[in-house]
Amino acid sequence: MELRRLGNSDIWISPVLMGTWQAGKAMWTGIDDNETQKAIRAAYDAGINTFDTAEVYGNGHSERILGKALSGVREKVVVATKVFSNHLKSDQVKKACERSLKNLQTDYIDLYQVHWPPGSFGHVAVPMQEIIGAFSDLKKQGKIRAIGVSNFNRQQLEAAAQCAEIVSLQPPYSLFWRQVEKDASVFCRDSGLSVLAYSPMAQGLLTGRFGPDHRFEKGDHRSSNRLFQAPHFQRVQAALDRLKPIADAKNITLGQLALAWVMAQPNTCAIAGARNAAQAVQNAAAARVQLSAEDLQTMDDISLSVTDHLDDNPVMWKW
Ligand SMILES: NC(=O)c1ccc[n+]([C@@H]2O[C@H](COP(=O)([O-])OP(=O)(O)OC[C@H]3O[C@@H](n4cnc5c(N)ncnc54)[C@H](OP(=O)(O)O)[C@@H]3O)[C@@H](O)[C@H]2O)c1
Repeated sequence: MELRRLGNSDIWISPVLMGTWQAGKAMWTGIDDNETQKAIRAAYDAGINTFDTAEVYGNGHSERILGKALSGVREKVVVATKVFSNHLKSDQVKKACERSLKNLQTDYIDLYQVHWPPGSFGHVAVPMQEIIGAFSDLKKQGKIRAIGVSNFNRQQLEAAAQCAEIVSLQPPYSLFWRQVEKDASVFCRDSGLSVLAYSPMAQGLLTGRFGPDHRFEKGDHRSSNRLFQAPHFQRVQAALDRLKPIADAKNITLGQLALAWVMAQPNTCAIAGARNAAQAVQNAAAARVQLSAEDLQTMDDISLSVTDHLDDNPVMWKW
């Protein structure tokens, strides 16, 4: 897989990253540790060199599984993790980093990200300078190689970028969720930041697997995703019907088409979540899909039939 530069750093990442929120088990159902480890190794074997996790995913479980699955190939991969919004004071960031290093069985994190902006979920609104200052100290000590942020709006991103070099923004971004385009996209493009799109298949919706009668098991957080709810869900189904012939004509799956669209956006890579090896391998293959200007235009029109009806709330879930 042809690698892309992460922001202006000397780190090179695969355009399809593997997301491992699933590996944490919490907020998902039916996740099996052995299957997850096989999925991670299959992703690696299929050319994915970059893996995204977070301290909060299963309270360290995702990081531990990832560390285990990548043992032996650590030097060949890029590991991205995140500190949660309850650990943003300077000493908390440093302790969280130590925990993540231990969980991941490594002595450096390639990309360390602020998971949610300060003040999220009722947590203390730690000043940006303190947060990014702590990240900069970790970078000087060689514990992290680069600094990224997630779920930041443009204003928050600019504030962070005034404190130190930020190489990436991780927003929700897919054919069905495009708020970032109205906000931080231009800043990222102008400043050379990578956009690492999360939920690029709209949490599975864009694979076409979840029809009108689908009900998630109790404990699967996706039932609170606004795209899975009326009135958006009906528009989503109609949009999928229009996307299907494009995927069929290319002999690819709907999910691969969705990932290819994300990767075709300026300086954007797709973090694809997977629960098993088959999904991971299929997602990796999306890096080979070519979309013409005409394909992109048609897909843009279809996408707007969903996104034009969403409000400006940047959070996908009703929490
Ligand atoms: N920064 C943040 O706040 C944030 C938030 C969300 C996610 N993320 C990151 O982004 C990653 C991806 O986001 P996401 O997991 O929410 O959404 P996603 O990647 O759009 O969707 C993942 C889900 O899609 C289904 N799927 C994946 N590959 C498939 C395939 N080849 N065929 C059929 N179905 C497939 C699976 O559903 P089933 O499980 O039902 O099989 C999987 O759990 C996460 O793992 C995490 O690393 C970050």
